Amino acid sequence: MTIHFPGYETVINNVYDSGNEHVFSYWDTLNPDQKKHLLEELSTIHFETLQQLYELAKRNLPSLDFKPAPYTPVPKTDEEKKEFEKAKQIGIETIKKGKVAAFVVAGGQGSRLGFDGPKGMFPVGAVSKKSLFQIHAEKIRAYELKYDVAIPWCIMTSEANHDATLAYFEQNNFFNLNKEKVFLFKQNMIPSLDENGKLILESPCSIFRNPDGHGGSLTALYQSGTLDTLQALNIAILSYFQVDNPLVRIIDPVFIGFHRMHDAEVSSKALVKAYPEEKIGVFVQFSNNRIGVVEYSDLPLEKQYEKDEQGQLRYAAGSIAIHLFNTRFIASVTGSNVTLPFHVAKKSIPEYTDKGIHYITGYKFEKFVFDALPLTQHNFILETKREEEFAPVKNKTGVDSVESAQELMINLHKRWLTQKGIAISPKLKKIELSPLFAIEKDDIPQSLIILDKEEVYIE
Ligand code: UTP
Repeated sequence: MTIHFPGYETVINNVYDSGNEHVFSYWDTLNPDQKKHLLEELSTIHFETLQQLYELAKRNLPSLDFKPAPYTPVPKTDEEKKEFEKAKQIGIETIKKGKVAAFVVAGGQGSRLGFDGPKGMFPVGAVSKKSLFQIHAEKIRAYELKYDVAIPWCIMTSEANHDATLAYFEQNNFFNLNKEKVFLFKQNMIPSLDENGKLILESPCSIFRNPDGHGGSLTALYQSGTLDTLQALNIAILSYFQVDNPLVRIIDPVFIGFHRMHDAEVSSKALVKAYPEEKIGVFVQFSNNRIGVVEYSDLPLEKQYEKDEQGQLRYAAGSIAIHLFNTRFIASVTGSNVTLPFHVAKKSIPEYTDKGIHYITGYKFEKFVFDALPLTQHNFILETKREEEFAPVKNKTGVDSVESAQELMINLHKRWLTQKGIAISPKLKKIELSPLFAIEKDDIPQSLIILDKEEVYIE
């Protein structure tokens, strides 16, 4: 059978030339709109690139030569503390000048969490049940009030969750942020391939595609025009974070100050790995002296367990996906021929057949944002404390789950109160401070009285 459809001859040829004609298996059952839909989707596919990615998937990559990257640890001495105070002042000055915007990546599929909807809508507040998006929005509003400045917020979504995300923000009146300064835009999608390197149908008239990874965020910022808008607003630094970390300090003056003091193009936060097998990437310095991150699955076993003279893990600085990106750096990368590399993962993928959906093993391709690090001349890595800034919500239960994230948030708020000398009842099981009440310990008024209850929420 040969397919004809006026105006789409080249696409149809590309499909046949690449050996993907099985995507037309249900052609005769499609109405004209569905036929057009399928051809439109196929016309966005770059078959040559896909072929290269398939070859990449089949190949074993050579192992790279690297050593641990240097980083600035949490301050201990008076001198270090003074340096941190200096960074903080520079950071505050930069924020107050309106140079900083927030940037969350929220295009992921949240498959491990199994939540039906954008992950950002997941209720995570320990008492209030506020969503991840609401907690982030209120933090940004709190920083705006604290520093008396507008803080634009970029939100990257994907095809699968853009409309639902936008509707959610509209229904909630953008959580009292200035909606003119909240920029939602979609990332690109890339087809997955089966084990023979062929496209996969997800319905009779569409191809299975996945979002192109958080590394797609830099291109998406540029292609959507958001980067231009930010530069027109004089934004110099984007504070990047992931939607599933409710503990993140979205606007951190110390981090921003150090970023400027080091004249960095990109800065990153690190935490010391809790145990060798912890599934986070580590910061490394490659043999060409460039800094980067090696994923936990790519770190050779002997390096994973390697210890230094003090008996500490040598590859200890783990990446928690908190970065600062200069807008000028993003413009230079996205406006050139440089693209971040794709990584390959073997995954179970739903395929449509005339007997219904069944799952096959195939390849998904994704870009990782930390691959921008080796493109920098100057960068900076700052250690942060896990219990103060990292509560990933990945799974329904157990490790990195809603429960563990809530426990971390409750403990942080309890610590703030205790450090302030505010009495809490032994009865207290759950406490939640709204970001609009306190974004850091120092915002809590000394006069605060905590009710003698099991659950307390302070707005
Ligand atoms: P993860 O890969 O850890 O989480 O992404 P996920 O995709 O939400 O969930 P799983 O893996 O399917 O269970 C980390 C962060 O990167 C964003 C996610 O939204 C999350 O904030 N991300 C991931 C994107 O924005 N786009 C992507 O293509 C992938």
